Amino acid sequence: MRGWMVRFRSLIVFGALAFVLSGCGVENVSALKPKGYSAELLFDLMMISIAIMLFVFVIVMAIYAFVLVRYRQKKGQEDMIPKQTEGNKALEVIWTVIPILLLLVLAVPTVQATFNLADQSKQDDKDALTIEVTGNQYWWHFNYADQEIATSQDLYIPTGKRVYLNMKSSDVIHSFWLPAIAGKMDTNPGDNMNTMYLEAYEEGVYTGHCAELCGPSHSLMDFRVIAVSPEKFDQWKKDMKNVDAEAKPETTSAQEGQKLFKENCMSCHAIGNSAAGVGPNLTNFGNRTKIAGILEPTKENLVDWIVNNNEIKPGNKMPMNLVSEEEAGKIADYLLQLKHSEVTPESAGEGS
Ligand code: CUA
Repeated sequence: MRGWMVRFRSLIVFGALAFVLSGCGVENVSALKPKGYSAELLFDLMMISIAIMLFVFVIVMAIYAFVLVRYRQKKGQEDMIPKQTEGNKALEVIWTVIPILLLLVLAVPTVQATFNLADQSKQDDKDALTIEVTGNQYWWHFNYADQEIATSQDLYIPTGKRVYLNMKSSDVIHSFWLPAIAGKMDTNPGDNMNTMYLEAYEEGVYTGHCAELCGPSHSLMDFRVIAVSPEKFDQWKKDMKNVDAEAKPETTSAQEGQKLFKENCMSCHAIGNSAAGVGPNLTNFGNRTKIAGILEPTKENLVDWIVNNNEIKPGNKMPMNLVSEEEAGKIADYLLQLKHSEVTPESAGEGS
């Protein structure tokens, strides 16, 4: 490596890192591009903290630079010891009072936001929407309390409305994190229920992640929140309530797939409005944005998932090789035609 390169090695590394990390902040997945009420509140807190930190940093650096230059050793005075001063009341008061003031500026909005984010007081209102969220290794279940609607992985919510979540886990601790709309909240096993709310400003597909290490496939435990206008949401609810779980598919392959599904998959997976099963609810599967939260919704991927799921998401509870690849193809044909609702958000664009 050339001399200057060695000298600036760390600069090069950090420069490259800055380029790579600039990929972060993808639309609809980023806390830095808030698209919902809670996310905006948290973003504002971040900005206040950064402003205070910058203020302190600049002033400390300025004093540091001044002292370095002003009091550096001069030629001919190598043995000189400067005048020693101990204790300065005025200075000590100043550097005690300034941090107290800064902490107060930080504390007031932080405490306010904390109480605001925990405000569930309107959850019991007549038209409030409450959704029960259950974290599972490694998928999410959503039960629309009082609505007799259940989904997994894709959560539909109306825009501009506060949607309350009652959250728990069926196994270990997970954490529901939806950076662009809200913060994150742990889901605990047992009776310890956590709550939070979502309020999305615009229609769109928002990616969420599990944010608590929960097993080998923790990083693959993604979900989507699909925000649509209140009118579209009402339509979606209507569509989901009218699901005919027994409806006969059009093609022969899908019909055979339906039979195979009933024989092999129905003991764990529900279609229709039943509550959480052992596996994800597959109602409206044909309109899912992803398979298992991570794969593009193609037949090839679905067959691969049915046959090799434990290689894709290690540690998940679905048995492998329960059916042959040919049978999996028929089941995939059946599942992919389960399109009970045509409601989609205006912008389907999303990152990963
Ligand atoms: Cu669930 Cu990490």
